[in-house]
Amino acid sequence: MNDLVQLTKEYDVAVITINNPPVNALSPGVPEGISGALDRIAKDDSVKAVVLIGGGRTFVAGADIKEFGKMTSGKPRGAGLLPLLLKIEDGSKPVIVAIHGTAFGGGLELAMAGHYRVAVSSAQVGQPEVKLGIIPGAAGTQRLPRLAGVAKALEMCTTGNPIKAEEALKFGIIDRVIEGDLLAGAVTFAREVAGKPAPKTRERNEKLGNASDNAAVFSSARETVAKKQRGLLAPVAAIDSIEAATKMSFEEGCQAEQKLFVECLFSEQSKSLIHVFFSEREVSKIPDIPKETATISIKSAAVVGAGTMGGGITMVLANAGIPVLLKEADQAALDRGLATIKSNYANSVKRGRFSQEAADERFNRITPTLSYDGFSNVDLVIEAVFEGMALKKEVFKELERVCKPGAILASNTSTLGIDEIAASTSRPGFVIGTHFFSPANVMRLLEIVRGKATSKEVIATCMQLSKTLGKVGVLVGNCRGFVGNRMFGPYRREAQFLVEEGAGIEAVDKALVDFGNAMRPLAVGDLAGLDVGWRIRKEYRHLEVPGIRQPFAEDRLCELGRFGQKTEAGWYKYDDQRRAIPDPVVHELVRKWVTEAGIVQRKISAEEITDRCIYALVNEGARILEEGYALRASDIDIIYLNGYGFPAHRGGPMWYADTVGLKKVFDRVSEFHRQHGETWRPAPLLKRLAEQGKTFAQFGKEEGAAV
Ligand code: 3HC
Ligand code: NAI
Repeated sequence: MNDLVQLTKEYDVAVITINNPPVNALSPGVPEGISGALDRIAKDDSVKAVVLIGGGRTFVAGADIKEFGKMTSGKPRGAGLLPLLLKIEDGSKPVIVAIHGTAFGGGLELAMAGHYRVAVSSAQVGQPEVKLGIIPGAAGTQRLPRLAGVAKALEMCTTGNPIKAEEALKFGIIDRVIEGDLLAGAVTFAREVAGKPAPKTRERNEKLGNASDNAAVFSSARETVAKKQRGLLAPVAAIDSIEAATKMSFEEGCQAEQKLFVECLFSEQSKSLIHVFFSEREVSKIPDIPKETATISIKSAAVVGAGTMGGGITMVLANAGIPVLLKEADQAALDRGLATIKSNYANSVKRGRFSQEAADERFNRITPTLSYDGFSNVDLVIEAVFEGMALKKEVFKELERVCKPGAILASNTSTLGIDEIAASTSRPGFVIGTHFFSPANVMRLLEIVRGKATSKEVIATCMQLSKTLGKVGVLVGNCRGFVGNRMFGPYRREAQFLVEEGAGIEAVDKALVDFGNAMRPLAVGDLAGLDVGWRIRKEYRHLEVPGIRQPFAEDRLCELGRFGQKTEAGWYKYDDQRRAIPDPVVHELVRKWVTEAGIVQRKISAEEITDRCIYALVNEGARILEEGYALRASDIDIIYLNGYGFPAHRGGPMWYADTVGLKKVFDRVSEFHRQHGETWRPAPLLKRLAEQGKTFAQFGKEEGAAV
C-alpha cells in the first residue's frame, strides 16, 4: 500500500482498493501497492479471502499508456505486471476481483489472474490493445482463451471491442453479475468460496480446444483480419499469440506473447495509434476556454433545410434524444426529406442496429414544418440550406427575428465565411459554424467553426454537444474550406494532375488505398458528385491566379454530363450495384485532352503518387497551422482520421510527416516545387521546422494555438 492502493478489512475479508484517478491505470506504484497489500494479507490469519476493487468511477482501464513512450525510449519504470499476476494466482487465499466501469487491457489481465470475478451489470471487459497497435502484454492472450475459449478470445483481442458483463458471464470470463452494491456482493461471494480450493486460470486448459478444430478457427481469424484490418500488425500478432496459448505451456506462451508485444510496441504503427489516442482527448482542450466555462443547455433544436445534410443532422439530433423542428421551403422538399429519414431508419432496423420501437421513438422526435413557428422555443438552430451567401443571410435575418435571445444559431456551410453570416444578425456572439460531413448521421467528424465574435459559452456548448451527438468535435478557424476541405483541395488537385500526367485513374486510386486510405480520391469524387467541385470552381474562377496550373480533365468530364455515381458515369462507369468499373472511354478522352494541351504523359510510380497526394495535404496543413486556423497539428490529424478515412495506424497526415522526417518531406516538396511550379511552394512553417530539425507536434506544444 501506498497513496494509490489501500487495504481495509470487512471482518474476515480483506479489501484491496485501487485509487489512481481518473481511470485507475496501472501506473508505477499500483502493482507495487497491490503486491504490498498481498504480503500483509498473507501474514494475517484472520483474513480468509480477498476482494480487489477499483475506487471511483471504474475498475482498471489498463496499463498506463503514457508509460509506453518511456519504454520505447529505453526508460521503462516498474517491474511490469507479470510477476504480480503470478503472485495473485499462487496466493493461498482466494482473490475475488470486483468490476465496475471498465476492466480493459491490463485491467482485465489483472482480473483474470484473480481466482474469481464478479461485476455489476453495467461493467465492460475488453482487451482493446490492438487499438493502440499492441497486443495484451500481461498474459491476456494466454488467460483469456482459457476462460472464454479460443474463438471468443480471438474476437476480443483482434477487434479490441469490449463486451458487457452479461456476455462476459456467458463466456466464463466472470463468475457472477452482482445486483446492488458491488463491494457487498463481492464480499458475500468471497465468504462463499473462502476455504475451498481456488482455481488458477493458467491451469484451466479445458477450453483451449484441439489442434484440428483450432486450425480452422485460426485460419478464419487470419482471413478476417487480412480483409478488415488490412496492413495492421497487431491483430495478426494477437492471433499468433493466442495460437501459442493452444500449442505451448503457459510459461512458453507468455514468452511468445512478450516477444510479439515488444515487436508491436516498438512499431511505427503503435506509436501512431497511441498518438491518436491522446490526440482524440486533447482535441476538446481549448487554451482560452477552460473546462469550467458555462454552457447552454440544449433541450430542443431546429434544422433549416431537409436536404442531404439537413436530413442527416436532424437524425443525429433526434438519435441523441433532442426534439427537432425540421423546416423546409416547400412541401415537396419536406416530404422528400422526411421520406429519406424514414427509409434510413428502416434500413437501420433491417440491419439490426436498433429496434422498430427505437426507430419510431427517434422519428417521432422530429416535427416537420414549413414555417418558423415554434423556433422561439428552441435552444439551437442548425441552418443547412443551399450554399449561397445571400440565402444564408436571409435565413439568419429571419432566425434573429424569431429565435429567443441566447439561442445558438449555427450554419452548416462548407465554404462561406461565418463572420459574414454572423454580421447579418445583431448577435454574432451566438453564431457559429457546425460543419458536419456527409452522410451526417454516419461520419464522426464535426468541424466547429469559430467566428471572430463567437462567444466562449457557445463554443464550449458546441464542443460538449459534439460528444452528446457521438461526434468528434474539432475547433477550427474561419478560412475558406475550413481545415479539412481546404487541405482536401490540393490533395484532389494532385490526384487529377497525376492522371493528366499519365499515372492512370485506377493506379492513382490504388496507390492511396495501398497507403491505407479508406477512400479512393477519384472514386470519392464520383461518390460526392464531380459537379459539386465543378460548380464551386466556376464560381471562384475569378480568384484563380493566372499562370498557375489547374487540373482540367474533371471539368471536361462534367461538361460531358459525367457527374459521377449520380449519372452512372464519372471517372469510372457504374453498374446497377454502384460498383466502379474502369472505363476505357475516359482513358481515351483524357489522353486526347492532355495531348491537345501539350502535356507529354509519362510512367509514374506508386511512390510518386502517394508522395504528391499526401505531401499536398501536409503542405497545406502546415499553412493552416501557421496561420492559426487549427490549434494543433494533432487536431488536423483527428480531422483527417474521422472525416477523410486517413489510416489511423499512420497517425494522420501531420504525424505521418513527422515520422517521415520534416527535412525529407521539405526536400520532396521543394523538388515538386521546382518541377510543377507555384502550387508546390513549400509552406514557410514546413521550411522552418525542417531547418530547425523539429516536428509539427513540437510546434503545437511550443507555439501554435491561435484559433
Ligand atoms: N493510461 C493512461 N491514461 C489513460 C488511460 C490509460 N490506460 N485510459 C484513460 N486515460 C486518461 C485519458 O487520457 C484521459 O486523460 P485526460 O483527462 O488528461 O485527457 C482520462 O484518462 C479520461 O479518459 P477518457 O476521456 O477517455 O474517459 P472516458 O470516461 O471517456 O473513457 C475509458 C474511459 C473507456 C477507460 C477510456 O479512457 C479508454 O478506453 N482508455 C483506454 C483503455 C485501454 O486502451 N486500455 C489498454 C491499455 S494498454 C494495456 O493495458 C497493455 C497491457 O496489456 C499490458
Ligand atoms: P441540399 O441541396 O441537399 O439541401 C438544401 C435544402 O435546403 C433543400 O432541400 C432546399 O429546399 C432547402 N432550403 C432552401 N432554402 C430554404 C429555406 N429558406 N428554408 C428552409 N429550407 C430551405 O444541400 P446540402 O447538400 O444538404 O447542403 C446544405 C448545406 O450543407 C450547404 O451549405 C452545403 O455547403 C453544406 N454541406 C454540404 C455537404 C454535402 O456533402 N452535401 C457537406 C457539408 C456541408
